[in-house]
Amino acid sequence: MSAAADAIRAALGGRAPGVAVVLGSGLGAFAERLEDAVRLPYRAIPGFPEPTVAGHGGELACGTIAGRAVLVQSGRFHLYEGHDAEVAARPVRAFAALGIRTLLLTNAAGGIRRTFEPGTLMLLADHVNLMARNPLVGAVQPGEARFPDMSAPYDPGLRALARAVARARGIALEEGVYAGLLGPTYETPAEIRMLERLGADAVGMSTVPETIAARALGLRVLAISTITNKAAGLGLAPLDHEEVMATGREAAGRLGSLLEGILAGLD
Ligand code: HPA
Repeated sequence: MSAAADAIRAALGGRAPGVAVVLGSGLGAFAERLEDAVRLPYRAIPGFPEPTVAGHGGELACGTIAGRAVLVQSGRFHLYEGHDAEVAARPVRAFAALGIRTLLLTNAAGGIRRTFEPGTLMLLADHVNLMARNPLVGAVQPGEARFPDMSAPYDPGLRALARAVARARGIALEEGVYAGLLGPTYETPAEIRMLERLGADAVGMSTVPETIAARALGLRVLAISTITNKAAGLGLAPLDHEEVMATGREAAGRLGSLLEGILAGLD
């Protein structure tokens, strides 16, 4: 059992969340929906570094949403901060050790599909790992497969639930392929044209390491991108982190409603 999982379990005082939600850039407001929350800063969790990115908090919060015990992670560990993929996957491994079986990931992404305007929500149907890193490199960790199947990384049943919730709540929800890049630079227009030809609909700098670790551990994964900007070369303005954050905050209400409906509908 990991020291991180032990510290989290001690802080939860008998609560046993079955679901974890990871919040991306500008999406932190979702944590405010938690009722009766217990909060745990990363500095109290062995092996969890302090996040270095503006707009990314650093805490876990456990509470209830839609009557369900949920663990919410605000602030993730990006490879572009200098972290190994293994560090990016640490929270997921701790969640699995706590008995969590369902992982809901959110992120901010650039829109490659031409019809994606800023504020679009996109369910990940699949991903392309272009980070040249993988959190499973090295010794096989307990409970993980050496060569995990990745033919359905994003759970078809959870995706169907997300689509049903979106329909019922009148929230527009697209579905597409996410390309995960190392960053921290945004892409060049030529790179975006390349990604478009590779079949990517959105591009970002997170999510892939967490999904890989979760699948190796047998967790079911759902991931949703907020398209915060048109990808490089497709819009008129230069890309800007502040704009990414602002669009994330603008879409956070719709995303929060979608997540809440998904949590309420989980079996
Ligand atoms: N590219 C990569 N990551 C991103 C983008 C983008 O355009 N927008 C938000 N995260």
